[in-house]
Amino acid sequence: MQLVDAELQESRQVLPGQWLQQYHAPALAVSARAGQFVHLRTGDWSGLVLRRPFTINTADPATGAISLHFREVGRGTAWLSRLRPGERIDMLGPLGQGFQVDSRSRHLLLVAGGLGIADLRLLVDEALRDGRQVVLLYGCRDASEVYPSSLLPDEVEYLVATDDGSVGHRGFVTDLVLDYEAWADQAFACGPLPMLRTLAGLVAGRKGRLGVATLGRKRGGGRSVPPGSPAARKKAFLQVAMEQNMGCAVGACLGCVIWGVNGPQRVCREGPVFAFDEIDWDATAGAATHKR
Ligand code: FES
Repeated sequence: MQLVDAELQESRQVLPGQWLQQYHAPALAVSARAGQFVHLRTGDWSGLVLRRPFTINTADPATGAISLHFREVGRGTAWLSRLRPGERIDMLGPLGQGFQVDSRSRHLLLVAGGLGIADLRLLVDEALRDGRQVVLLYGCRDASEVYPSSLLPDEVEYLVATDDGSVGHRGFVTDLVLDYEAWADQAFACGPLPMLRTLAGLVAGRKGRLGVATLGRKRGGGRSVPPGSPAARKKAFLQVAMEQNMGCAVGACLGCVIWGVNGPQRVCREGPVFAFDEIDWDATAGAATHKR
């Protein structure tokens, strides 16, 4: 983790209310891994200065550039979206536990809901760099929110689902998952909690449907790891990046806790990436409903 003074190089609106910004931050670009985030010191016009977490969308060690993809939702992000190239901002990062791809996995299924694509975008680059094949399923409300394919490498197979059917499959992105569950060695997801919960339910039934071996246990024996443990995360079929409001982002305030099967988990420290079976989905969904 480092504190760096990052210079904004480019800022553009890529979807209504959504911004893609590129910063020169070489120390972060070489150390960032997919799923990790930075804590930015943003201001607003009232003079309030706060840090806010943003997922690292892409990182290029060759150029020293990292990018952030965010939605303008309040004063901090409005302030950020109005920064101009050449202006500087301080960033703390990279933070959190990122995605971990099992070395045996060749076929990766990525499932994104809305802005959840920002958590998965760097994983696309890392997977292609390592010679893996990637299918990306993307879900959103309608055509106006579809992630532009021009922001993805050509090698990615990209399928879209929209609630109203204006582009691609009409319905939920999770409807598309069963077509790829036999092809995929592992799956990685980020999006709204109901989407992740549905995915976790699908994956829990996958072994029964396909009769597949579980990654992490060598055929004919081998040391297994307890399901639901952090050690099992890398071998889990599904890893999810959890989105949660944060305060300190370094594990001190307990403002980002979700419910795991082994007790409370801090999204900023133990996550934001978890194996699907580390999370108590009913308790986490119940807590989210209670907060509204
Ligand atoms: S944001 Fe403070 S403990 Fe996670």
